[in-house]
This record gives sequence, structure tokens and C-alpha cells, in this order.
Amino acid sequence: MASPLTINPFDAALGAEVTGLDLSNRLADETVTAIQAAWDQHLVLLFRDQAISDDDLVAFSRRFGDLDEPAVNPQGKPYHPDQPYINVISNLTANGVPLGNLGDGEAVWHADMTYRENPPKGAILHGLTVPPAGGATYFANMFAAYDALDADDKALIANKVAIHDGAHNSAGMLRKGYAEQTDVRNTPGARHPLVWRDGDRKALFLGRRPHSYILDMTVADSDALLDRLWARATQDQFMVRHEWRAGDVLMWENLRVLHKRDAFDPASQRVMHRTQISGDPAA
Ligand code: OGA
Ligand code: MN
Repeated sequence: MASPLTINPFDAALGAEVTGLDLSNRLADETVTAIQAAWDQHLVLLFRDQAISDDDLVAFSRRFGDLDEPAVNPQGKPYHPDQPYINVISNLTANGVPLGNLGDGEAVWHADMTYRENPPKGAILHGLTVPPAGGATYFANMFAAYDALDADDKALIANKVAIHDGAHNSAGMLRKGYAEQTDVRNTPGARHPLVWRDGDRKALFLGRRPHSYILDMTVADSDALLDRLWARATQDQFMVRHEWRAGDVLMWENLRVLHKRDAFDPASQRVMHRTQISGDPAA
């Protein structure tokens, strides 16, 4: 039987909408294979109008690999009361205590949990409650960003390694158990090459700008190079912007794509549930 899905690429450097699927159903293996192929090609996939439960989200996510539990958050305990593999991204509070991560402010450009040796290779985010304005999410294609670097910068970064900060989340909040460091050479977190090789292709692997440091450089030189790479990597032509509707499910490749989120009106509500697909330890 022909797979019912249709892939409609965005008019952008990455991303596609997938139509024709109800993710609350158990999908046929061939459908999962088609989604995986589209994900590899387009890096970000959007499924609209998905009325799915947390169990559905976990079951769908598991079709793409093992799942990672959420990172340590500023509260120091999971936001979801009974789903260990679901993180809650929300600005709601109860008695002043956050019920989810990232609040209502901007989340700066980042990839998720790259402070780990083996960060998740993907994430799947389900929009449950979305604000009437603001809170858009952006994605940037790091294959395209690498390809557009000039030859001198490609040579300069070929064997360089950077520290990916584990102390702060993308909203700049300190994770429970971490202390502020004033010297970026002491930033806690995994060290990863600035260039990832994926077969013949190469991608920039930047993680997040705050508290990053390129080993074996002076702090001033590291800061200058990082600023230049970040300015190049986050240009409009490499990016797509997603305005949320309730029921959207977005899945992103986490290691070849950066994402960020706009701030939104604190008086409005934004609640999203997210899973993460474990990275390949050999990658
Ligand atoms: C995340 C994240 C962005 C958003 O879940 O990792 O960065 O739009 N979310 O909520
Ligand atoms: Mn994120």
C-alpha cells in the first residue's frame, strides 16, 4: 500500500511539512522509513493539527531511536510528573514555581544538550498551548553555514575543538548544581570539534555562544573567531522561522541544526512537551 504521507519542503534552507498522517496512530514501518528519509534530507519536519497524548508522543518518538531524559533544569527536578522522557517547555508557574523550562524570554541560538559527550540527535516538540503572538522558533542549517565559510576560515577551524557549556540553559538560567564561571576556559561541558563530518558533508557544530571557548587559543582570539562564526552561521539565508499553532509537532535534527526562540508576552501562555532521540555513540 502506498504510504499516505506527502512531503512539502519549505521555501527555505531547511525544513518541510509532512501532511497526511495522524501521529496518534501506530505508523507502518515504511511510513517511519519515509519520515526518517525526509528528516535526514530536510533536517526539520512539521506535522500540523496533531491531537496526540503524551503516550502517543513517546511512542512516535521511539520509532526513531532510544530516548534521552531531559537535562537538569533550574529547579533540579523533572517538570513532567510521570513521563520521564518528556520535558515541559512552559512559562506557567504554580505559587511562583515554574512548571516548565525556558520561561517567557528569548532562548538564544543553540543545539540541545551538546555539553554531553553524546548529545541527543533529535528532538520532537508538541505545541499544546501557544501564545497569540511571539514565541516563534527558528532553525538554521549548519551544513549550509559551513559550506558558505571562506576557505581561510574552513582551514582555521578544521582541527579546532570547543567547550560546550553545561551550566546554563538556552534562556541563560543556571542549571541546578552549577556555579557561574568567570573564565570561559573553565566552562564545564563536553569538548566537540567545530566541524562535524557526515560522510562527504561537513557541518558547523557550535552548540551555543555564551560561555563557549575554543581550546588552545587566547580567550580574545577564541571570542573573536566564535563571534565571526556565529555571525556567519545565523544569517537569514540559512534559517527558517516557525510560528506555532496549537497541535503542531516539530522534529529537528539536533547536531546539524541550531534553533532559537523569541520571547513572548508574559501574560500569555505557552506549553509544549518534548522528547529527545539519543545520539549515536559512535557518531
Ligand atoms: C527546546 C527549545 C524552543 C521553543 O525545547 O529545546 O529550545 O520554541 N524550545 O520552545
Ligand atoms: Mn532547545
